[in-house]
Amino acid sequence: MAFLADSLKRIKPSATIAVTDKARALKLAGRDVIGLGAGEPDFDTPDNIKEAAIKAIQSGKASKYTNVDGIMELKEAVVRKFKSENGLDYTTKQISIGTGGKQVLYNALVATLNPGDEVIIPAPYWVSYPEMVLLAGGEPVEVQTTMASGFKMTAEALERAITPKTKWVLLNSPSNPTGAAYTKAQLKALTDVLVRHPHVHVLTDDMYEHLVYDDFEFFTPAQIEPRLYERTLTVNGVSKAYCMTGWRIGFAGGPEPLIKAMAMIQSQSTSNPSAVSQWASVEALNGPKDFIPKHNKIFKERRDLVVAMLNQANGIVCPKPEGAFYVFPSCAGTIGKTAPTGKKLATDEDFVTELLEAEGVAVVQGTPFGQGPAFRISYATATTALEEACARIQRFCGNLR
Ligand SMILES: Cc1ncc(COP(=O)(O)O)c(C=O)c1O
Repeated sequence: MAFLADSLKRIKPSATIAVTDKARALKLAGRDVIGLGAGEPDFDTPDNIKEAAIKAIQSGKASKYTNVDGIMELKEAVVRKFKSENGLDYTTKQISIGTGGKQVLYNALVATLNPGDEVIIPAPYWVSYPEMVLLAGGEPVEVQTTMASGFKMTAEALERAITPKTKWVLLNSPSNPTGAAYTKAQLKALTDVLVRHPHVHVLTDDMYEHLVYDDFEFFTPAQIEPRLYERTLTVNGVSKAYCMTGWRIGFAGGPEPLIKAMAMIQSQSTSNPSAVSQWASVEALNGPKDFIPKHNKIFKERRDLVVAMLNQANGIVCPKPEGAFYVFPSCAGTIGKTAPTGKKLATDEDFVTELLEAEGVAVVQGTPFGQGPAFRISYATATTALEEACARIQRFCGNLR
């Protein structure tokens, strides 16, 4: 009898973590490696947030278990955030706090999916979505988007993908891995379709809400279509905009029965998210936010630099996305060419492996994100390192024969 569970056979390890591990191993072996794989800001958590955490520890507020799905002070801060930033009215009973946006999304899927239930996921997608759906016993249904459509799902494609078994459509704007963000009109086209299919629920992952550039205006589905409010779970968190990936706090607003079910799952698995991180998050949401535009100015400059330099590399086409800190260029023009090692590039995995080998630049291949041949670059790293990495990519592409 096998020791490990059959359910493991349905899922794959995270490709983003695999490339980070490989780059780390090369670095340990003394190679000069620039890692553009990690999906987290290179900025430190702001001081006022750190100080709130220290205070919580010193005053004893962080010593004990808390309410399973979050302290009331944080739920109240999340209620205010949804109201003031998104125009959404939730009560604290409609708020769930979890260990990162990841746990919140996973709880929601486990709480709702029966075998055979379908979840529509536009591709390219964050690597964890299909795997979470599979772990929860559901069926991921990919809807391919194109670079020409800005990597956005059209209303027609959504309509075609809906079946009687569709339970959720999972939206992520701005997107990991493409950085694409839906305009109000583009989102409205999708919500118009969803209004006509009352059995479909909306799981919106707004994790990169604050990371948008060029005066782009962010919208979330329940905000622009109030008729979807009752069947939408709006997921967000402090990880990306507040530079708090290590603190592990995410949250969601949605229908009370779903929030209760998610709390039950959390009560029997992890219990409350870290108390000290919850107090830090109260300060993040209630405190000053002036560092966000400062960071965004830097992110925008980096995005523009990376897009310009990649478009000068032979065989690479890189669109300019609206947000997040990723670009998702196509490397189709390099496929079939031969790398300096003599290896012929047949896939985007070959492209990223040979790039790492030849030039010490770590990026992630597009295929695990649901579309290739392409790769993802995270530009949440020092501008000088980005410039050097892009010059190396240009040299690598120029040396392909
Ligand atoms: C699209 C998206 N959603 C959710 C998450 C998870 O966020 P957290 O670190 O809060 O679990 C990530 C993290 O990479 C992400 O890219």
